[in-house]
Amino acid sequence: MSSVLVTGAAEIVTNDPAYGDGIGVVPSAAMLVDDGNVAWVGPQRSAPAADESVDIAGRSLVPGFVDSHSHLVFAGDRSEEFAARMTGQPYSAGGIRTTVSATRGATDEMLIAQVARLTSEMARQGTTTVEIKSGYGLNVADERRALAIARRFSDETTFLGAHIVAPEYADDPGAYVDVVTGPMLDACAEHARWIDVFCERGAFDADQSRAVLDAGKAAGLAPRIHANQLGHGPGVQVACEVGAASADHCTYLTDADVDGLAQTGVVATLLPGVEFSTRSPYPDARRLLGAGATVALASDCNPGSCYTSSMALCIALAVREMSMSPAEALWSATAGGAAALRRDDVGTLRPGARADFVVLDAPSYIHLAYRPGVPLVHSTWRRGRRLQ
Ligand code: NIG
Ligand code: FE
Repeated sequence: MSSVLVTGAAEIVTNDPAYGDGIGVVPSAAMLVDDGNVAWVGPQRSAPAADESVDIAGRSLVPGFVDSHSHLVFAGDRSEEFAARMTGQPYSAGGIRTTVSATRGATDEMLIAQVARLTSEMARQGTTTVEIKSGYGLNVADERRALAIARRFSDETTFLGAHIVAPEYADDPGAYVDVVTGPMLDACAEHARWIDVFCERGAFDADQSRAVLDAGKAAGLAPRIHANQLGHGPGVQVACEVGAASADHCTYLTDADVDGLAQTGVVATLLPGVEFSTRSPYPDARRLLGAGATVALASDCNPGSCYTSSMALCIALAVREMSMSPAEALWSATAGGAAALRRDDVGTLRPGARADFVVLDAPSYIHLAYRPGVPLVHSTWRRGRRLQ
């Protein structure tokens, strides 16, 4: 692949403090891409020569969004459940069962088409890396199928057999944990990088969650967790104990939870689309940032608690509803997501990183929050190639 010089950027956000305070914004900038990687970023006037050049004509350029939490392998529709919530019904994880039965009943082709549709919707909105979970199969064959399908679209796949107790085991949750940590894990591990569990009242308790994550680790998967979404509980402490890459949701935290995240370096992944779509209180991002925790933002795109695929919406909500600065929110949606996936090749645009980036129809990244709901993505590029 020949080298390409991207010129005419009003600014380039690198997420590399070497280029300036905080998120490393270079004004009036250019970027050289060589063989799919960033080779150079700097002021336009000192740009090196390249085989080709692309003029982005005063637009801004930011790292591609890293959406570190999604549940895209599903069938069915729960819009009525959303409508009921908006007129006063509380969110209940019990709705997961509706999606499990629709997903089990779907053909492979239907599920593949659904993931293709959602991942391309994400790419059009600037997402260049997406993590995809299973969790709507809840039996050996359907969990394995979900991961095999997810794997066609992303290397960041997560086995979430422990999403809720499968309906067949409602009277014997312990037996279901044995299935998840035994035959289901055996069938799924080859298609997954991560192991996840929904540690919450009504799903899995601390001991069950530890058992799931420890079994996943023994099978070579790295742990992450759904924690402290619907109320206070042990999820974050379990994440810290097992060395999870990330604790996701983090809506109800004690001081000990916040300290644990800050001290262990477990990333706190906040999912503000969930609070928006369930009319729940937002997590306290300032408390986490103040304590020195690493904060990521992700969509949680799923048919129940949050059916958005828009990282720009998540940024706007984080800024408006969680008092993050536009710079903090953009960092969390890019480099923060990369940290939550233990990746250092994406989420930044420093030399050597993958040339995964978004050109915005705006003079500054601040417009992502300043112009909520406006489709600002001009083009999405992965490994230096324009996707659309
Ligand atoms: O991350 N919290 C658990 N799982 C999903 C919601 C799943 C659903 O309602 O279908 C979440 O919010
Ligand atoms: Fe989730």
